[in-house]
Amino acid sequence: MSSEKPAPSGQEDRMEKIVALAKRRGFIYPSSEIYGGINGFWDYGPLGVELKRNIKDAWWQDLVRCPPVGPDGEPIRMVGLDSAIIMNPKVWEASGHVGGFADPMQTCRQCKKLFRADQVWEMLRESAWVQSLVEVFTLAKWDDLLLFNSEKLFRWVDKKGKKLAPGLAVVRNPSVTLSWMSENLQNNPEMQLNIIDFLRYLATEQKAQTGLQTPCPNCGGDLTEPRQFNLMFESHAGALRDEASKVYLRPETAQGIFANYKNVLDTTRLKIPFGIAQIGKAFRNEINPRNFTFRSREFEQMEIEFFCHPSEADKWYEFWRDTRFKWYVDQGLKSSKLRLRNHEKDELAHYARACADIEYEFPFGVSELEGVANRTDFDLKAHQGKSGRDMTYFDDETKEPRYIPYVIEPSGGVDRATLAFLCEAYDEDTAPDENGKPQSRVVLRFHPRLAPVKVAVFPLVKKDGMPEKARAIYDALKPHMTTFYDEKGAVGRRYRRQDEAGTPFCVTVDGQTMADGTVTIRDRDTMKQDRIPSDGVLAYVRDRLK
Ligand code: GAP
Repeated sequence: MSSEKPAPSGQEDRMEKIVALAKRRGFIYPSSEIYGGINGFWDYGPLGVELKRNIKDAWWQDLVRCPPVGPDGEPIRMVGLDSAIIMNPKVWEASGHVGGFADPMQTCRQCKKLFRADQVWEMLRESAWVQSLVEVFTLAKWDDLLLFNSEKLFRWVDKKGKKLAPGLAVVRNPSVTLSWMSENLQNNPEMQLNIIDFLRYLATEQKAQTGLQTPCPNCGGDLTEPRQFNLMFESHAGALRDEASKVYLRPETAQGIFANYKNVLDTTRLKIPFGIAQIGKAFRNEINPRNFTFRSREFEQMEIEFFCHPSEADKWYEFWRDTRFKWYVDQGLKSSKLRLRNHEKDELAHYARACADIEYEFPFGVSELEGVANRTDFDLKAHQGKSGRDMTYFDDETKEPRYIPYVIEPSGGVDRATLAFLCEAYDEDTAPDENGKPQSRVVLRFHPRLAPVKVAVFPLVKKDGMPEKARAIYDALKPHMTTFYDEKGAVGRRYRRQDEAGTPFCVTVDGQTMADGTVTIRDRDTMKQDRIPSDGVLAYVRDRLK
C-alpha cells in the first residue's frame, strides 16, 4: 500500500466541484443520507452505477474473455470466479489477516476521535487549526522555520485557538504550557522552530512527565500511543453469537481465489501459467475513511492471481505491471497523471519479492489505484499448511518434479478507478447557448467506452412528427447501448445536461430529418455536428466506442 501524498495547492476546489457534481447528477451519494450518512460508505446513483459497471465490464472483457497475449507470444489463459464474501475463518488465519491485518491507531484523549498513526501529520497539515497557525506565523512552506513570538501566540490562543483547537494544551492551560516554553525562550529569544516541533510543544502540558505530545488534527488534544487495530469487520454465522460462530467479511477478494485454486485446477484443463480473476466487494474497517470514495470501508476490488513457475515469476511480474499500467492509459487516464512506483526492498511485505503501485494524481494528491505484486508461493503454502490440502502442481507433459506455483497479483480497486476516471474526465470550458452566446459549461470527457450513457436522442421541437421519429431512433438504439431520450427545454440546454453526464454523442431530429431522413450527431468534446442518415447512427456510435 502506498502513502497518500498531499495535493498541489489549488486542487481542493476542483475536488469539491467533482464531489458536488457527482451528487447533483446522480453518480455518487453518501450512503443512508436520509439518516445523516455513515462514514466510509457510498451509494452509486443511476449514472454512477453505469460508469462503474462499464469499468468492471472493460476489465473483465480485456482480461478474462479476451485476455492479452503474454510475453511468450501465447494468448494468456484466464478464468473467472465469484467466491463468497464470508468464508471459513481459517482462511483468514492462514492468510495472516487475523494476526496481522492491522493499522496503528491513536486516540485523542480530549475529543476521543481515532486516527491512523501514519496519517496523523498529513491530517494535521490539512487541519483548520494548524492552517490558521501557519497563517499567523506567516509560514510560506510547511518546512520553513518559524520565528517564535509569544504575543502572536497569546492572541491566537485567545481568539482562533479557543474555537478551532479547544483540546490543545496551550489553549486549555496557557500559563503552564507557555511557562516552560518561555523558560527556553529567555535563554534564546530568537528561537526558531520547525512547525512539527512547535505543534508538539503547544500540545504538551508537562513535558517532564509525558515528553512531547502529538496533537489531534481535530481539536488539538493529546493523542495516545499507537495501538494495533485489526481492520476486519466481524460478524457471526448462525444463531449463537460466540467465538465459535465468529466470521469475517473478506478484506480482499484474493483469498477466495487461493482457497479455490485446487478446485479450478481439478475442474478445468488449465495448465500453468494461468490466472483466476475475480471482481467483488471487500470490507475494511478503516480508521479514517477519507478523500471521498478513495478510502472507504466497503469497496470493490478487481483482482487476478496469476499462477506461474517460480523460474518465470520475474518475467510475468514485469508483464503484468506494464500491461496493467497501459490498460489505464487506454481507458483514458493520461499517462502524465499516472505513475508507476516500484517499491523499495524495505517497503515490501515479508512474502513479496517485488511490488509496484500504479498511482494516479488525484486532486487531493498522488495515490494508489492498483498494486501489482510477486507474492511468491506464500499464500498457497500457507493454505496447504493450514488445510492439509496438497497445493503442488504436476505437469504430466514435462514430468517435472511437483512444485507450488508462484503468484503474480494485479489488485485494483473499482471505486478508486471510478474516482480516477471521474477526476480525469472533469473539465470546464465554454459552449455557445441557444442564442450563440458563449457560456461556461461543465463537461465530463469520459472515454466513450466508459461513458454511462453513450448516446442521447432529442427532437428539436415537440411537434411536426419529430418526437415520434426521435422515439423510433431511441427504441432502435436502446437494445445495443445505454441511450437517453429527452424532449424537454431548449436543445442547447439539453446538450449541456448531456455534457455534464459525459454522454459522448447527441442525436437531434430536426426539420431536415422529416424531409430527407438525416439527423445531426454532435460530438461532446469538439461540439461539432455531422449530418448522417438516421439508420447510420448505430454504426457511427459503435465505431467510436472502441
Ligand atoms: N490482495 C491485495 C490487496 O488487497 P491492497 O493494496 O490492500 O492489496 C488492493 O488493495 C486495491 O484495493 C488497492 O490498490 C485499492 O485500489 C483498493 N483498496 C484497498 N483499500 C481500499 C479502501 N479502503 N477503499 C477503496 N479501495 C481500496
